Amino acid sequence: MTDYLTYCDLARIADRIECLATMTEPERPYSRLVFSPEFDTARAWLEQQFLAAGLVCHIDDGGNLVGVRRGKASDKKVIIGSHIDTVPAGGRFDGIAGIVAALEVVHHLNDAKIDLPFDLEIVDYLGEELNVWGTSCLGSRHMAGLVTAEILDRVDAAGRRLGDEIARLGGSGRPPGDRRADADTIIACLELHIEQATSLEFRGCDIGVVTGIPGIYRYAIDVTGQAGHSGTTQMAGRRDALVAAADIIAATSALATAIASDDNQHFVATIGKIDVFPNGAAIVPGAAQMTLDLRAASEQGRLRFLDQFETHLASVRATRHCAIEVRPLAAAPPAPMDPGLQQLLAERATALGLKSMPISSGAGHDTAHLSRIAPAAMIFIPCRDGLSHCPEEFATTDAIAKGAAVLALAVLELAVD
Ligand code: HGY
Ligand code: MN
Ligand code: MN
Repeated sequence: MTDYLTYCDLARIADRIECLATMTEPERPYSRLVFSPEFDTARAWLEQQFLAAGLVCHIDDGGNLVGVRRGKASDKKVIIGSHIDTVPAGGRFDGIAGIVAALEVVHHLNDAKIDLPFDLEIVDYLGEELNVWGTSCLGSRHMAGLVTAEILDRVDAAGRRLGDEIARLGGSGRPPGDRRADADTIIACLELHIEQATSLEFRGCDIGVVTGIPGIYRYAIDVTGQAGHSGTTQMAGRRDALVAAADIIAATSALATAIASDDNQHFVATIGKIDVFPNGAAIVPGAAQMTLDLRAASEQGRLRFLDQFETHLASVRATRHCAIEVRPLAAAPPAPMDPGLQQLLAERATALGLKSMPISSGAGHDTAHLSRIAPAAMIFIPCRDGLSHCPEEFATTDAIAKGAAVLALAVLELAVD
């Protein structure tokens, strides 16, 4: 059994985590939204870290930052990636732990003077988190050939076209075209990530070997009623868009709770974003715009929810006298992880004397998209109280080190014929 500390440096891990944490909106830690000045600063810093680790860097067409460690033969590659962008007021470890762990693998290979038979690519996937253009995983979707012209032509409230923002960072800003040729060179895609839930911590496990990533589906819900004077508009006959929205939000929670308990499969539905117009205290709301975020381990769970949801919308239209429109924004079907890579990760964890368990992901990840074009797998590490997407998010340096060691041994195992 080898010691995991052979493959990483605790102080270097902690330093990089803390350094990235300083690159945030100062008044809203930790916020490093894609395309923000904080993101640009972090990207520049990360490129310097890649270069210092001896990686050859470039920005690919999808706007991903790619650091390449050349192998003896460069017609094949292993990708280890994650993301450094955050949600608003997010955490210091979601995505970041994966990038820091990937760099530890590179340092170990350099220190041990190991020449791999394939290229090793460390990738900061662009824009993993949901953005104002209504999509997520920008870079990994592009790498997998899944970004459409429609998505790139989306414009945000400030008039910024998504494709132009990607081009500003060095990407092509155009749809990816056929990715099959490049995909055939990929031996494996690996990602370390915090679990963002409590299973590992609860069971005292060091490593989670991810079995699958749920389908993620997002919809815009536009509710249109009639604005009016809050003092003179009688209750009877109001077309209050916010009251209709409240009915929809309550129904979303009730329907999802019932499906989750019936199916005993991962199913969650959230309306976490709502804009009210005109949003004045003395005005009956005339319109409300919401985003519905669905996560389903199975297609039938999603279809069952949508069927019941539509029935409920019809009832709200009738009782609240509001128009309600639902538009798909993004769809990513469930992504099973590669069985062979799962076994390899579990075996490497055991070789390190670490306790591991198979685990399904509740969150979406870049690896879901890469799994459409190449064998892909993920390592989860525990995070405190399962908290994530909030400043309290926390993972110990030791947990990251254990995950990094499994990553390193997995890469070394893939190098064995
Ligand atoms: O939304 C997610 O599941 C991920 O954190 N982007
Ligand atoms: Mn996240
Ligand atoms: Mn993440």
